[in-house]
Amino acid sequence: MQDADSSQKLTTILQLAYSGERAAAYAYRGHWKSVSDTAERARIKQIEDEEWHHRKLVGEMLRSLDAHPGSLREIRALIIGRGLGLLCHVMGWLAPMYGAGRLESRNIVEYETAARYARDCGREDFVDCLLTMAEVEWDHENYFRSRVLLHPVGRRLSLWPVPPPKEAIRKSFEQEVEKSERAGSGILIATKR
Ligand SMILES: [Fe+2]
Ligand SMILES: [Fe+2]
Repeated sequence: MQDADSSQKLTTILQLAYSGERAAAYAYRGHWKSVSDTAERARIKQIEDEEWHHRKLVGEMLRSLDAHPGSLREIRALIIGRGLGLLCHVMGWLAPMYGAGRLESRNIVEYETAARYARDCGREDFVDCLLTMAEVEWDHENYFRSRVLLHPVGRRLSLWPVPPPKEAIRKSFEQEVEKSERAGSGILIATKR
């Protein structure tokens, strides 16, 4: 069933995600350049590349919805991303790892929510890609959490809530689909009686 409200919400959340990926990618560019450990540099560089890839995918979804990125939001994302990237060089090691982990935990939920809006407005073709991006954000959150916990001060900080297990991203989505299908067939049986 097509749902105009969900369609609008999907466009809005994708516009937010599109610009958010830009800010994140620029921030990670500064972040990986600011760390000295070779493995950390490589992993954060890979995360930067994954954010650019997400942005490309979300851009394609927006085009297929005949929607455009928000131009003000795009400029803001550029400024914030570049600014955070520069700050990484002066904030030390822990603060950028902490900030990134906290941000990534929100990105997981953002793509899960987008997948639900896509399902509700009949864009099932977006669902798998959106859930895959939520899973990649889960990996990002997990990486930055593991970094924070390596640090003696980080271990004493109160961290953002631990996300549910990665498998729960698809499992909870599938359970909702099954539930709504059961409810739908129940209505059908009731109306046939
Ligand atoms: Fe991303
Ligand atoms: Fe991410």
